[in-house]
Amino acid sequence: MTKGSTLIVLGNGGVGKTTVAAAMGLVGARLGLKTALITVDPARRLRDALGVEQLGGKPTSLGRHRLEAAGLDPSLELFAMVLDAKRAWDGLIERFTTDRAARDRILNNPFYRQLTGQFAGSEAYAALEQLYDLHSRGDFDLIVVDTPPAANAFEFLQAPAHLARLLDSPMARWLFAPYFLGGRFAIRLASGAARFVVRELERFAGASALTSISEFFIAAQETVDGLLERLRKTEALLHSGHAAFVLVTTAEEERLRQAPALIEEMRAERLNLSAIIINRFLDEESWRYLAGSSRGMPPGVAAIDGLRSALGGILDRRPGLDALVKYLESYRTRAWHDIARTAAFAQALPAGVRLAITPEIRRGVLGLQQLAHFAEYLEEPRLKEARLRAAAMRYEAGVSL
Ligand SMILES: Nc1ncnc2c1ncn2[C@@H]1O[C@H](COP(=O)(O)OP(=O)(O)OP(=O)(O)O)[C@@H](O)[C@H]1O
Ligand SMILES: [Mg+2]
Repeated sequence: MTKGSTLIVLGNGGVGKTTVAAAMGLVGARLGLKTALITVDPARRLRDALGVEQLGGKPTSLGRHRLEAAGLDPSLELFAMVLDAKRAWDGLIERFTTDRAARDRILNNPFYRQLTGQFAGSEAYAALEQLYDLHSRGDFDLIVVDTPPAANAFEFLQAPAHLARLLDSPMARWLFAPYFLGGRFAIRLASGAARFVVRELERFAGASALTSISEFFIAAQETVDGLLERLRKTEALLHSGHAAFVLVTTAEEERLRQAPALIEEMRAERLNLSAIIINRFLDEESWRYLAGSSRGMPPGVAAIDGLRSALGGILDRRPGLDALVKYLESYRTRAWHDIARTAAFAQALPAGVRLAITPEIRRGVLGLQQLAHFAEYLEEPRLKEARLRAAAMRYEAGVSL
């Protein structure tokens, strides 16, 4: 986190992107950086905590009062805004369409509305657009960008480019422009290639009347060029030394298994992946124990080991208790598998990619105070890879307290 940088937080749906992005914003502000957080659809309470309940087109300061109430330094310069994809898109159309009538035609066009309202990539594009806007104004030392839910993290980066390719496809231009000039639109649509373009457009935006698609392209000819130019600039920013990506994941087997492919894909695309956060890793007590000690097992988890023998015959007579012990034992096994998997993952990480591991916060991360508490796990001292590896080895060796 340095002055002038931008952090883009990626990850699969529900792993904690919004939470991590907000916490990183706080960490940045604590480092003395004037920080802007662009957040996407935060939970109601987090939205209130960040003071962004009212729709705002620009970042608003959390304010001294809110910071003070959460026990934070009231002079922190932390600003937040909720991404409003529709507003961002409309802003772009207004900017890039000089002709008033064309602008109104676009804004009222059913295909445009569908495209900006439904298409998953439209949110991604809007987030990047907001980022570019803030970055080029240069008002902030650090910008943290949360990203919309996506089935896979890379989708966020691909969707806008895919949209751009489609808007920019010679086929789309060829298909729709002649109609404007009084050409033979109906004949062209009969060709297989033309039907393919329409199908692709519909895949993005949902089925739409052909007339509204063609009207959109006609009205938006000038605008599309502006949008594409803008997208190219945004892409350049993403590939510049200013932008760094943070990938959030959890220690779940499937997620960690997918992560290396994603890391490789980012490297191939020349995107600067600077950190990986493994979120919701064990509980806070176990985390602290592992971070602070290189011996034994976290007491909470280790105590489960002795439970069955301590209770002895009682378990035979109390099936409910037996079920509880079984549940705890499965928690312990899962915990150790998570440790072993995360240790192996950490070891295989390419040089230059930092790793932070954050635990499940018992009381959740909804208010500002809890967010500040969560953010501490992103700061030093961290749970180090060596500690995890040592713990995994102790487990393998059957060490028990
Ligand atoms: N370390 C944590 N401990 C406890 N709760 C957490 C933690 N991280 C995230 N959560 C909670 O999990 C839920 C999902 O987190 P969050 O909204 O940050 O995920 P997301 O990746 O942004 O989801 P989406 O893909 O839907 O945008 C929230 O209720 C959040 O408070
Ligand atoms: Mg989110």
